[in-house]
Amino acid sequence: MPKVVILGEREFDVRAGTNLLKLLQDTRYDDQLPATCNGQGQCSTCAVRVRKGAGDPNQNELDVLGDEQIAQGWRLSCQINTSQDIEVEVPGYEVAETIQIDPAIIRDVIAYAAENVPLRRLTTSHTVTVRRLRDLSHRADVLVDGGGDSKDFEALYAIFNYISQERKITEIPTKETLTAEQVQKILGAFAKRLPAEEEEIIVYPYFLYVSFTLFFLLLAGLGIYSVFVDAPLEEPATPSFTPNPEKAPWYFVGVQELLAISPNVGPFTSVAIGGVIAPAVFVLILILIPYIEPYLEFWRKEKSKPVGRRLRDRPVTTALFTFFMVLAIVLIIIGQYFRGPQWEWVIPWQ
Ligand code: FES
Repeated sequence: MPKVVILGEREFDVRAGTNLLKLLQDTRYDDQLPATCNGQGQCSTCAVRVRKGAGDPNQNELDVLGDEQIAQGWRLSCQINTSQDIEVEVPGYEVAETIQIDPAIIRDVIAYAAENVPLRRLTTSHTVTVRRLRDLSHRADVLVDGGGDSKDFEALYAIFNYISQERKITEIPTKETLTAEQVQKILGAFAKRLPAEEEEIIVYPYFLYVSFTLFFLLLAGLGIYSVFVDAPLEEPATPSFTPNPEKAPWYFVGVQELLAISPNVGPFTSVAIGGVIAPAVFVLILILIPYIEPYLEFWRKEKSKPVGRRLRDRPVTTALFTFFMVLAIVLIIIGQYFRGPQWEWVIPWQ
C-alpha cells in the first residue's frame, strides 16, 4: 500500500491508484484546494508541492504549470494517482497568479452588473447568467487569490470591459471609488487568465475536400450496391386492391403503432391521442429537455459549479432522452415486424 505523507501534518496508507486530490479533499483540505476545473487539469487550483514520489508530470501539468513551476516541485494533485510512497506539502493554490484587487470591489461591480447590465451584452464564449454572477460574487475572495478557472475570468473580464466601455465606472457604488486606471489594471490582470484562443479551422478548402470526398465515395458505394441488389419495392399500387395491413414507411410506423394502442380518453378519441396529442407532447418534452436540467439542482452536491456536459452530470436529460429514444425504437419495431392483417399481433418468424 503506498503511503501519502502530508508534510508536518498527517500520513495515510492508501490503495494504489488513489487520486491525490480526492484524498486531500476528503481529508479537510477542501478550502485550500478549490479545484475549480473539477479535476480536469486545467486550472492549477489543486496544486501541491511534491517532495518525493509523484513520477513524471503529464501533459496537462506541463501545459498548466510550465517547466519552472514543475522544477520547483509543483504538481497538479488532480493528475496524480498514487502508485508509490509520496510526500507532499499542501500550501494552497498559490501557483495561480494572484490578482491584487479588494474582493469587495469585485462583489460591488458584479452586484451592479446583475442589476443594470443586460446579460446578453456580456459577450463571452460561455453564457453569463444571473446564477453565474451570484456564484462569482460568492467566490470573490478565492478569485482575487488566483483561484478560479478561465471561464470565471472570462465572465469577469466581460463585466469590467462593459463598464469601462460604457463609461459606467462612476455610477458603481463601490467601497472606494473606482477609477478608469484601476479598471484598466484589473482588466489587464483578468486578461492573463482568459481562455486560450481556439485554433481557427478554415472550412475552405480543407473541410470541403473531406466532405466532398466522403460524399462521392458514399455515392459511388451506393451506385455499385444498387447494381447488385434490387430495391425492395412492392407491386405497383392499384385502386382495386388495398394491402392488409397498410403500413406507413418505417419512420412513421411507430406513430401508427401508437395510434393502435392509444385508448379513448373522455372527449379525446384514440386517433386524436395517438396521432396528435401524444406525439406533440413527446416532441415538446424533447425540445424542453436542454432547459430542464439547469433548473433541477437538488441532486447536485457542488451547487457553485455550473452543470457539466458529461452524461452523469445531466441525469434527467439523459434519462428522458433515453426513455423517448427507446420508446420510439420499440414502437417502430413492433409496428414494422409484429403487426399483421387487421393490425393484429403476429410473430414474424412463424
Ligand atoms: S482541479 Fe484544476 S487542475 Fe486540478
